[in-house]
Amino acid sequence: MIISGKEISMKIKEQLKEEVAAIKENYSRLPKLVVILVGDNQASKTYVRNKERGCAYIGIESEVLKHDDTFSEAELLAEISRLNNDDSVDGILVQLPLPQHIEEEKVLKAIDPNKDVDGFHPQNAARLFLGQQSFVPCTPKGMLVLLDEINYDLKGKEVVVVGRSNIVGKPISLLCLQKDATVTIAHSKTKDLKKICSRADVLIAAIGKPKFFNHEYIKDGAVVLDVGINRDENNKLCGDVDFEDVKDRVMAITPVPGGVGPMTITMLMQNTLEAFYKRNGE
Ligand code: GUN
Repeated sequence: MIISGKEISMKIKEQLKEEVAAIKENYSRLPKLVVILVGDNQASKTYVRNKERGCAYIGIESEVLKHDDTFSEAELLAEISRLNNDDSVDGILVQLPLPQHIEEEKVLKAIDPNKDVDGFHPQNAARLFLGQQSFVPCTPKGMLVLLDEINYDLKGKEVVVVGRSNIVGKPISLLCLQKDATVTIAHSKTKDLKKICSRADVLIAAIGKPKFFNHEYIKDGAVVLDVGINRDENNKLCGDVDFEDVKDRVMAITPVPGGVGPMTITMLMQNTLEAFYKRNGE
């Protein structure tokens, strides 16, 4: 089975669109997301454009604040402070990576945790760690929705996460643990990666290497979630998994493009609505 994140995200977007229509009837203003983009990273520009389109589609207000890479850390912190204090803004997202001269940790910490729709503020990360209600980072949140959509129950299952980033690897590991899975976090220094991956009922591939995981890494009947967005030898978009090599032996797999990616943006919209409701006392 191929898990179409594209189709599932379309379905959720239709629901969110209806929610926004109801908000329009019942509240004095619409939910609003502000995205800050610093510098000239091409991939970031594409992501930000897709976020804008997602907002426009479901009817959320959005604003993109673009700065060239001479924008200083102090200016960025001042901008965040202004947005924190702006009651018309529900969600603030600073697109990563930031240019070298800006300290990511300082910036993420400056965002009001109640407007932190990325879930990257230390307070939200800590709450996730403790199993408390928090903004959940969008990519991991989307992956859980995909598993839900195929009625996959993680309880007692062996999940292997390859990748330990703060954006994907760490949060998805905690979320799977909360769902009673047995979780292994593997990474670039892991010994005998093939053997560990071959145990997985669910393999989460998030290492950023094109087509790295072939059939030797994957157990028959496994579920494979591919977080990679890479270019192959022909400059074609591909994941971390060698899709053609593994597709006939898996129970389910997400394609790239059209798998995990579209879900991420949809979850950002969902988090923005969540922030809106929370800030309206619900
Ligand atoms: N860069 C790559 N993924 C993400 C994400 O989910 N959020 C932000 N802010 N930046 C990113």
